[in-house]
Amino acid sequence: MIGFLAALLVLRLLFAASEIQDTNKMYTSGSDALYNCSSVEEICKVPIPSSYNNCSRAGVWKNELQSVMRITCIQGQIRGFYCSAVGKAKSYYPLSGRYLVARGNSVIMGWTVAWQNPSGNNQSSTSWSAISYTGDVIESQWLLTSYSTELWRTVMSNRDRFMKVRC
Ligand SMILES: *[C@@H]1O[C@H](CO)[C@@H](O)[C@H](O)[C@H]1NC(C)=O
Ligand SMILES: *[C@@H]1O[C@H](CO)[C@@H](O)[C@H](O)[C@H]1NC(C)=O
Ligand SMILES: *[C@@H]1O[C@H](CO)[C@@H](O)[C@H](O)[C@H]1NC(C)=O
Repeated sequence: MIGFLAALLVLRLLFAASEIQDTNKMYTSGSDALYNCSSVEEICKVPIPSSYNNCSRAGVWKNELQSVMRITCIQGQIRGFYCSAVGKAKSYYPLSGRYLVARGNSVIMGWTVAWQNPSGNNQSSTSWSAISYTGDVIESQWLLTSYSTELWRTVMSNRDRFMKVRC
């Protein structure tokens, strides 16, 4: 009897572990499973299932400095990656954030990139706070915090306008 209960417990633990894995897979398959900053075409390659587009803003976006990001949104969560410079292998960084759908189908959203990847640690991170009134523009303001021993030097701020890329 005890052996049977122990076996049940082990099974239950195994299931719990596979549930966690499934959740991870769920989030990665829609966004950062395939990342490649070598070209916009490459970034556009992976189709985004409609279930990863609850904010109607999932897809590929480009700002005025030609940085490109790919995002998905599901259950309040934004996932994706940011290509700080298209064409450079080292430019891939994961991003994550939160969103909500506001009045008139506007989307209020915020996401963060920590500028560290296998190529290096830039000692900095950027957070964007944004609103998107329509499906083809995201208007954001960002704060970039960089390491310095002098506190007053650590933060820069500016705006970014992201335009939807037609993939
Ligand atoms: C990215 O795409 C380019 C061009 O198709 C390819 O040469 C390269 O191997 C890809 N890199 C990764 C990490 O998949
Ligand atoms: C987003 O999810 C909410 C809650 O599950 C649902 O009511 C709404 O229809 C979804 N919107 C889209 C665009 O999928
Ligand atoms: C971080 O990136 C900026 C812009 O490319 C560069 O000027 C700076 O030297 C980098 N800092 C570190 C610590 O890698």
